[in-house]
Amino acid sequence: MTNTLKILTGDITRLVMDAIVNAANASLLGGGGVDGAIHRAGGPAILEACQRIRRERYPEGLPSGEAVATPAGNLPARLVIHTAGPIHHSDPDPDGNLARCYRRCLEVAHENQARRVAFPGISTGVYGFPKETAARIAIATIRAFFDAHPDAGMAVTLVAFSDADAEILRRHLK
Ligand code: APR
Repeated sequence: MTNTLKILTGDITRLVMDAIVNAANASLLGGGGVDGAIHRAGGPAILEACQRIRRERYPEGLPSGEAVATPAGNLPARLVIHTAGPIHHSDPDPDGNLARCYRRCLEVAHENQARRVAFPGISTGVYGFPKETAARIAIATIRAFFDAHPDAGMAVTLVAFSDADAEILRRHLK
C-alpha cells in the first residue's frame, strides 16, 4: 500500500488517528501549547503513562530526538507519540535533531501498527524553530521514511494550527 502525506489546519486533539504526535519536553510531564492541549483533552491516563515511562525507562528524562508511545486516554486517537523537539537557539544540531524526532516518531508509529499518524509543528512554537525550515525538514524526513518503507501504507498528516502555517507547509509539499 502506498504512503500518503497531506496538510490539514486544525486542532490535533480532535483528529481520529491511530497516533497523534505530541511536541512534548524531556520531562514528559506536560506543559503548554500542543502538549497542554493533548493532556487537557486526553485526561490523566496520558500523564500516568508518561510518569511510568519516566520511572521505568527514562528516569533522567526523554533524550532529545527520542519518541515514546502512550495510550491516548479520552482522545479520539488510539496512541499519543511523545517527542521532545530541539530548542532552536540552544540545540547544537537543531536541524538534525528535528529530523530525528520525525524519524523516530514514524518508526514508533510503524512499530505500533499505527498507519494514520498526525504531527503538529514540532519545535515551531515555544521552542522557536523557524517554520519554513521546520516544514522543509519535516517533509524531507517523512519522504525519506516513505522511501525506506514503500509498503508501510502510512497516511501522515501535518497539522497546522493556522491557515498561514498550512500555507508554509503546502509551499514545501510541492
Ligand atoms: N493542535 C495542533 N497544533 C497545535 C495545537 C493544537 N491543539 N496547539 C499548538 N499547536 C501548534 C503551535 O501553533 C506550534 O506551531 O503546535 C506547534 C508546536 O508549538 P508548541 O506546542 O509550543 O511546541 P514546541 O515549540 O515544540 O515547544 C515544546 O512547549 O508546551 C511546551 O511542554 C512543551 O516544553 C515543551 C515546549
